Parts: sequence; structure tokens; C-alpha cells
Amino acid sequence: MVGAFDTSGYNQERKTDPYIYQVGFGNTFASQAIPGVLPEGQNNPQNCKYDLYAEQLNGTPFTVPRASNQRTWLYRILPSVAHGGMVDTKQNPLLISDFSPLNPNVHINPHQVAWKSFKASASEKLDFIYGLRTIGGNGSAVSKDGMAFHVYAVNQSMEKTAFANVDGDLLFVPEEGRLDIQTELGSLMIGPGEIAVVQAGIKFKVAVPDGASQGAVYEVYGTHFTLPDLGPLGANGLANVRDFEHPVAGFDVEPSKWKVVYKIGGKLFETKRDHSPFDVVGWHGNYVPYKYDLSKFIIVQSANIDHLDPSVFCILVAKSKFPNINLMEFCALQQHYVTTRNTFRLPYYHRNASSEYIAFIRGGPGGYTGYTGLVPHGPPVKAWEAAVKEELDSTIANEGALITVMEPYQMLLLTDYAVSCTEYQLPPVSTWAYQPNFLKRIPEVNADLKAAGRPMIQ
Ligand SMILES: [Fe+2]
Repeated sequence: MVGAFDTSGYNQERKTDPYIYQVGFGNTFASQAIPGVLPEGQNNPQNCKYDLYAEQLNGTPFTVPRASNQRTWLYRILPSVAHGGMVDTKQNPLLISDFSPLNPNVHINPHQVAWKSFKASASEKLDFIYGLRTIGGNGSAVSKDGMAFHVYAVNQSMEKTAFANVDGDLLFVPEEGRLDIQTELGSLMIGPGEIAVVQAGIKFKVAVPDGASQGAVYEVYGTHFTLPDLGPLGANGLANVRDFEHPVAGFDVEPSKWKVVYKIGGKLFETKRDHSPFDVVGWHGNYVPYKYDLSKFIIVQSANIDHLDPSVFCILVAKSKFPNINLMEFCALQQHYVTTRNTFRLPYYHRNASSEYIAFIRGGPGGYTGYTGLVPHGPPVKAWEAAVKEELDSTIANEGALITVMEPYQMLLLTDYAVSCTEYQLPPVSTWAYQPNFLKRIPEVNADLKAAGRPMIQ
């Protein structure tokens, strides 16, 4: 590859990441692997430098307001249309993109659900495209409204194959093993503790330098991830804009047979090419993949009593078509100091409007668990008993742990695979053994009621 292995730059100290990045969020970036390759003062000159082809990739319809308009101009060896036509290809039957309640292959779920980490069997070679397994989702990719929760279990790098997900943006959350993601706009390396977003339509290839790798992928249809507003927090905090890292241009000169697999409405198609699709010599725009190191998150929490809602751990949101309501929010719980007094320090018992699906990246039981919105949950009995007697010193919560939480507002319907993969399913937590301690204290309550001149409990 030309351009992307320059060792000077923002993150040169990182041993596990050979790439350099441009930082910010929502910026219009410009990057060129050969100096001067970007046209001056225009996007589409009659002749591009070195006879490259100019191509625009839109992330939003042309006329959306400027603040949310996203597009990138690519200057490449061959245009994306240089292919032999779109044809059917091998399908991944575990990929689901239609979560209509009328679809008999997806299921409403009232229970707490939990799965162990998903693994690729050593006897089966699975690359990223065929290692994806959809767990649940809502809405539909075809109508560009909704989202999907996938896991991946991969033990093979993609070879001479690129993937373009037309259906939505993908948020990668590795649990084990690094992902080396080569995109048309340059390369990103992420491992457990980092995340990356590759937007709809951008071609990419996933290599697994550590061998067997697994994690989660959250896909949003018809919208893009953005940062939550900060309100009274001010201009800084949570995920800071300068910590989002975008690739620099890098291109392969590789005139050989390649395949590009497209996911369109959940179905896979392929095109053939006579040159690597990673042939973009320069680009400029604001529709650009990015990565983020979760350890850079600025944690905000109560410093005196109670604790704040888990939205304070929010890293990215994807806006829905309902005004002021997010399609999903992506949060990460990590170690932080706790100094509160007179406070039940575990999560309060709750019934939240949004559903929640948790991935235990580090610490905790591993794997995944989830609850449907407004279905009650909270700490188990033993944890409650310990928490109400706990001596409240200043301490560190979630020490060494990294737990990501994906909260969709619309109900997640689970796929056939999610409800039938018995080798991965874990039993629900038993929640029936709570004691109604109040009843033992009725004499004391009645004494207080009597003193207040109120009727007593009979
Ligand atoms: Fe919860």
C-alpha cells in the first residue's frame, strides 16, 4: 500500500496500530497519498491528475441541511462502476435485515436473554462477511429505518474481497482479537477497548491479525452515528471530538482479480473487478470512517449522592425519525472513582423506555445480555443485601472492567439464531427471591401512622 504506513503522526507510540490518523468529529478532512493529487478549487476537473477518476460518495441525500449533509470525493485508479455487473453470490443465512413483527423468523422477547461469547469453530474458515450472525434488530434495512445487532466470530482474513454494506453504518466493538479494517479512505486498526464506524456504502476489508476474533457489530439504517449533545456539561467531556481518529489516504496498485460483496436489503450480491477496490489516491469530505479508544472517555458522575442515569456514559448516538429520540445510544461503563454517600451504589431497580443490550468486553461474565424496554430488572437479591450494608468509602467502581451498552428505543426482535443457539445461550437470572421486608415492619409503620393521626394498616 502506498501512503498509509507513514510512522510520523498522532499515534506513533501505539505498538499495535501501524496507521496514522486525522483527528476530530464531523470535520471535512482532506488526504492525499501523493502530494498535489487533489484538484485545486473544484471537485470534478475535466482531467484529474495522473488520469485518476473522480467519484462522489454520498452519505445523505443531496438536499439535507448543510449541518447534516455528508459526502466525500474520491480520486481513484478505477471508478467503482468498473465491474462486470452485480450477480448473486453465496448468502450468509444468519444475516437478517427485516424485523417486521410479521416476519416469522424474528421473535418478540419478554425475558432477560444472555449468551456466551460467540466463537468461530476451528473446523470452519469464516471471514468477516460469513462470520456475522444477527442477534436481533428493529425496523427494516429496505425502508432505511431501524437497526440490527450482530455478533461476529471470524478466524480468517478477507482475501481479494471487499465488502460494501449498503444497508447502514456499522459500529464495530471487538471483544477478542484485533480487526485490521482497510477502507477505500485508508486503514484503521482496532482491538478490544476500541471501536470503529464504517459508514454505509464504503468498501472495506477485514483482516484478523491475531487469528480467531470475535465481537459485536451494531448496524443503523438510514441514519448516522453522531455525538450526544453536552447540555450543561459545557464544551468538553464524555467523548471529546479530538479523540476520534480518521484514516489517511492509502492505495494499492494491484491489477488482479477482486470481488466486492454488497449487502443490500440483507441479501448478498457480488461484482468482479480487475483491480483492487482500495485504489483511492486522494479524497476530501466528511463521510469518513473513524475509530475511538474507549479509555479516552471522560466519565461524568455524581460527586455527592445518588448516581446519574447511564446516559452519562454515552459515546455515540444514532438519531431516529422521531424528533429528539435516538434510534440507539451506545455507552461504555468503565472503572471510575465513586465518592457518593448515603447512596445505594448499584444500579437502581428500573424499567427504562429503551431496551438495553450489554457486551462484557473485559471483566464480568463475558458474552452478552439484554432486556426489552420497560421490562423490570435490577440487582439480584444477594447484591441488594450486600449493597444496603456496604460501608461507603471512596472506591473504584467497575475496576478493570469494560462493559458496553447498546440501547435501542424501538423494541429489538430476536432472530431464530439468537433464540435457538443453545450452545451459546445462558439461563436467565432468577429474580423471584426478594423479600418484602416492609411487611415485617408494619408495627413500626402503624406507630408512625398513629402518631401522624392517619389510619393504620389493618
Ligand atoms: Fe438496565
